[in-house]
Amino acid sequence: GSMVEKLYEGKAKILYPTEDEEILLTYFKDDATAFNAQKRGQIRGKGEINCAISAALFEWLESLGIPTHYIDRPERDRMRVKAVKILPIEVVVRNIAAGSLCKQTGLPEGKILPYPLVEFYLKNDALGDPLLTRDRLAILELATPQQLEQIEAMALKINQHLREFFERCGITLVDFKLEFGLDSGGQLLLADEISPDTCRLWDKAETDPKARVMDKDRFRRDLGEVESAYQRVQQRVLEQIAQL
Ligand code: C5P
Repeated sequence: GSMVEKLYEGKAKILYPTEDEEILLTYFKDDATAFNAQKRGQIRGKGEINCAISAALFEWLESLGIPTHYIDRPERDRMRVKAVKILPIEVVVRNIAAGSLCKQTGLPEGKILPYPLVEFYLKNDALGDPLLTRDRLAILELATPQQLEQIEAMALKINQHLREFFERCGITLVDFKLEFGLDSGGQLLLADEISPDTCRLWDKAETDPKARVMDKDRFRRDLGEVESAYQRVQQRVLEQIAQL
């Protein structure tokens, strides 16, 4: 029981205020949801694992000049972050066809895309997070045109860095989702998390399309061994970070 009233509770994280209004505390839960929360469950140890992976990747991206909301990780499942106003946009970057891209276009899973595909989805559970067109984005005025341009450029740069990083981990970065926020000064920061919950990660050592899955698709598709897959991602990411 925390004495502090939570600010916000999402599907995988809880946000708490701190004494400093510029700083928030994020608690990473073991709860897992999929298909717009129609499927619910728990992944044992996920909170700590996703917090550790996200912290390591944010810190590393920050060192490469990508501004993030990350401050530090005071406990294994807690992250201190800069308070931001989250833009209600889910930015998805894809290198290889999978998931909804295959479902909606018929592209075969595993097809290498000719260039990284950046997509914008409306972050709205009630509407089922619909894919947005450029014009819908402009009309909704969720961000200024300059901010949207900056978001796309940042997403592509983050993709380049993460792809290379995961390659060195022996992992193929298939696709991932990012969220961005504005700090009190209006600066655009990478926010939310980067973890096996928000990325598709395929083990390069495995060719079998089920065996290679190291991310939340194990939960979504009932492939089993979800915890151990998340643990293996954590181990490889932290090992690689230590070697940088
Ligand atoms: O489902 P879809 O193929 O569009 O997902 C693309 C990527 O974005 C996947 O890595 C998925 O885990 C992530 N994603 C997410 N949160 C959502 C939707 C997708 O993290 N609400």
